[in-house]
Amino acid sequence: METNQLILALSKGRIFEDTVPLLAEAGITVTENPETSRKLILPTNDPNVRVIIVRATDVPTYVQHGAADFGVAGKDVLLEHGGEGLYQPIDLEIAKCRMSVAVKAGFDYANAVHPGARLRVATKFIETARQHFASKGVHVDLIKLYGSMELAPLVGLSDAIVDVVSTGSTLRANNLVEVEEIMEISSRLVVNQAALKLKRERLQPILEAFARAANRS
Ligand code: ATP
Ligand code: PRP
Ligand code: MG
Repeated sequence: METNQLILALSKGRIFEDTVPLLAEAGITVTENPETSRKLILPTNDPNVRVIIVRATDVPTYVQHGAADFGVAGKDVLLEHGGEGLYQPIDLEIAKCRMSVAVKAGFDYANAVHPGARLRVATKFIETARQHFASKGVHVDLIKLYGSMELAPLVGLSDAIVDVVSTGSTLRANNLVEVEEIMEISSRLVVNQAALKLKRERLQPILEAFARAANRS
């Protein structure tokens, strides 16, 4: 492990965009735009800091294995990953949304979740859904999807979905209603546990800058 070099794992889109101001607080500017560049390793103004662009769900995996020293990932993604090998020092308070249960308008959810009932639930968030319904004593058949969850109840694939909701406009556009909020979601800084020890001198000022910027927002 080269102790001077730092690799930060980010996903394209909202996580990248919301992390840019946090990096600025640490004096770091990413010098190429991931939306237009095909490069997966992006340089910054600091020759010792590079950003890798990975899928949102892959951020914890890269950091866990030390292929990235640190990264930014949603609580939703971290709960599914399990957090093994990751130190999670800061809630960055970015990419805020909530994890909710939604059904087709008119579906009698209250009646469908009485203890002993069986509900078909489509979701990308299998572990979160499993725990939520287990805590209610509701039996579920979980159907794993990778996106477009909102479609599932419309075409009879499931009775309900578990997905992230922000403005609610995606649910509304698809004639779905939110029937239960499971938890609030925001994105966290995750750090590889070995890197935290071996690269503390390089990492510490960046973590402090992130914490300062997060506390201000
Ligand atoms: P992929 O596109 O690779 O399937 P993804 O859809 O999870 O991944 P993003 O949409 O960039 O990737 O979401 C990244 C994180 O942002 C999520 O893990 C979640 O915590 C949060 N998030 C997702 N949707 C919203 C939203 N509509 N508003 C605010 N935050 C959101
Ligand atoms: C996310 C999520 C919901 C939507 C919720 O999708 O999967 O579909 O946001 O946000 P809203 O309540 O404000 O409508 P995203 O925009 O990330 O698109 P994706 O399908 O490419 O992940
Ligand atoms: Mg998304």
